[in-house]
Amino acid sequence: MHVLVVYASKMGGTEGIALQVRDAFVDRGLTADIAAVEDARSLDGYDAVVIGSGLYATHWRRSARRFVRRNVEALQAIPVWFFSSGPLDPSAAEHNIPPVGQVRSLMDRVGSRGHATFGGRLPADAKGFPASAMAKELSGDWRDAEQIRGWADEIVDELTLLTTGSPASPASPR
Ligand SMILES: Cc1cc2nc3c(=O)[nH]c(=O)nc-3n(C[C@H](O)[C@H](O)[C@H](O)COP(=O)(O)O)c2cc1C
Repeated sequence: MHVLVVYASKMGGTEGIALQVRDAFVDRGLTADIAAVEDARSLDGYDAVVIGSGLYATHWRRSARRFVRRNVEALQAIPVWFFSSGPLDPSAAEHNIPPVGQVRSLMDRVGSRGHATFGGRLPADAKGFPASAMAKELSGDWRDAEQIRGWADEIVDELTLLTTGSPASPASPR
């Protein structure tokens, strides 16, 4: 099983989540690659794809939206999951936050099997406006490693069931 995790990240927070998802897949025995959307050229050879983006003004980054549009047909042919990263508070770890409308539309176009919203990260020394102004009040890291790992585990379970018809063996203790 060969899986690709692609991400759009401006300040590095979403890239960190993508790395955690990739590592969780590898721990469960999948072959998993990771790439920024700008570098992911072809989906040939992949059995499933996870696509994530940071949220900016309630939108995915344009590069992530373009990636989905550019690859609609390839994505329709394999299982796909989306994730968003944004909230600068504990809300994303406390309850399920649905995708923003634009992401919901992209999910419908490719038949995405699921979505998760994870907390975001805003560095105290964020550069540029309005990030630097926001950082005076809102800096912090709200990414929850357990939530991310749990979601990745669910994907492995679903993929295993899809491809073998049998449940996966339990995740090894961490
Ligand atoms: C200008 C700006 C706008 C943002 N807008 C949103 C938003 O609409 N919704 C949200 O949940 N988070 C929002 N955030 C928080 C970011 O999504 C969060 O910092 C995220 O981790 C950034 O991802 P990145 O580090 O991969 O670029 C915003 C942050 C900035 C700096």
